[in-house]
Amino acid sequence: MDWGMKNRLARIIKPEDGRTVMLAVDHGYFLGPTSGLEQPRKTIEPLIPYADSIMLTRGVLRTSVDPGANVPVVLRVSGGTSILKELSNEDITVSIDDAIRLNVSAMALSIFVGSEFEKQTLVSLAKLVDEGEKHGIPVLAVTAVGKDMARDARYLGLSCRIAAELGAHIVKTYYCDGFEEVIESCPIPVIIAGGKKTPEIEALELAFNAVRTGAVGVDMGRNIFQSDSPVGMIRAVRAIVHEKASVADAYKIYESAKGAKARKAG
Ligand code: R5P
Repeated sequence: MDWGMKNRLARIIKPEDGRTVMLAVDHGYFLGPTSGLEQPRKTIEPLIPYADSIMLTRGVLRTSVDPGANVPVVLRVSGGTSILKELSNEDITVSIDDAIRLNVSAMALSIFVGSEFEKQTLVSLAKLVDEGEKHGIPVLAVTAVGKDMARDARYLGLSCRIAAELGAHIVKTYYCDGFEEVIESCPIPVIIAGGKKTPEIEALELAFNAVRTGAVGVDMGRNIFQSDSPVGMIRAVRAIVHEKASVADAYKIYESAKGAKARKAG
């Protein structure tokens, strides 16, 4: 692995502890103005100080993040579908030239294993890895799940392993029962998505269990930006990922930030 690739990976997965908190705010690429991200800048700005990196599209990056913010960028480079159509029908939507111009630390692309467009998304991943390798830019494979697909260790393990075999440098998946099996059979670092908004305590439990069983961190979106205290949540998640905090201690961080916010508003 060349120096540039290692350097970019170190901007995402912190060499101090081998862990990462990635803030996912890319949802608009197929969901449009989804809840909590109606005005991306308003949501993103207060969270940047607590994120090791942010995952987003080039449109939101250019319009809603100051270049001086100096936060490592994981650029979503796949899309071309909306929630109204077949989601797996994705292609690469950003050229490598633009990714370089935007000085990204990694490029992210979804693969839809078992879907109608499985092959198209897997070949796109392989092509993106070829481009990334040429320029020292790591690729994050996102194991997307269709509506009818099981989120179990067998299926997620299959998706993660295929992503690794095709050359991805990091893979994002979902936490599941038997997550250790997914980790054991995947030779690249694994991070977990938060999924749909759940009560804060459950999202923290999810993060805790994921890192306890081998994930290097999270790529969390809705459970942070749809919380009643997004800053409290990202700080709580950080405590779990980077400071080995218990769920109870992390929850206290969230609650106290929420209380402070309420006092300020009142
Ligand atoms: C899909 O929309 C994206 O790849 C999200 O970045 C991913 O699902 C993580 O976000 P969340 O924690 O909201 O699931």
